Amino acid sequence: MTEHTPGPSVGPDLFRQVMRRWATGVTVATIRDGEEVRGITLSSFTSVSLDPPLVLICVDKRAQCHDMAIRAGRFCIHILNEEQRLLSDRFAGRRPGEHSLFSDCSTRSTAWDAPIIDGCLAYLDCRIAEAVDGGDHTIFVGHVENGEAAGGGDPLLFFSGRYRQIAPPSPYDAGPPPPPPVDAFAWASL
Ligand SMILES: Cc1cc2nc3c(=O)[nH]c(=O)nc-3n(C[C@H](O)[C@H](O)[C@H](O)COP(=O)(O)O)c2cc1C
Repeated sequence: MTEHTPGPSVGPDLFRQVMRRWATGVTVATIRDGEEVRGITLSSFTSVSLDPPLVLICVDKRAQCHDMAIRAGRFCIHILNEEQRLLSDRFAGRRPGEHSLFSDCSTRSTAWDAPIIDGCLAYLDCRIAEAVDGGDHTIFVGHVENGEAAGGGDPLLFFSGRYRQIAPPSPYDAGPPPPPPVDAFAWASL
């Protein structure tokens, strides 16, 4: 890997300001470790690979779910819809007394008995293939073993510290149909 010389310092304030300008969806990862079941709200979710199917999440080392995920070796990640703000707040610890409460959610169980929260846009059940050190977070790479994209509706978004809703597609975005792919022959005849 290329060696990088340190550039001008980017302090935590500037770093936060930059990251607040990055719009994301909102997910909840559920984890079962023995008798304990918890959920954690995460915006750090992305796909990594199609073959094999891999995703990643980044979890704060101080979060209770962090060590649970290491012990469990698994997580089940749910993509929230725009009506699930309360769920996001709950599993982010923003609703005191409700943290990690599943009793009023309708759930099913994964093969390893973690909750699958009903009504989400989609979920992926993952085995942790790798846990990579990422500063004050750990990057968990999940090998997808099961999932469903059954839920309809629009996603819950997070931008600049607030929940947002997706706007309807602009009529200008439709545009003309894309041109056909340019193959080697077409290039040669230009
Ligand atoms: C929209 C949103 C996104 C979040 N994304 C992350 C994230 O990607 N990683 C993380 O470690 N914490 C994230 N958090 C904070 C955790 O949800 C929060 O610290 C949680 O209380 C940790 O729970 P635990 O200690 O029970 O595991 C996010 C919170 C919100 C509201």
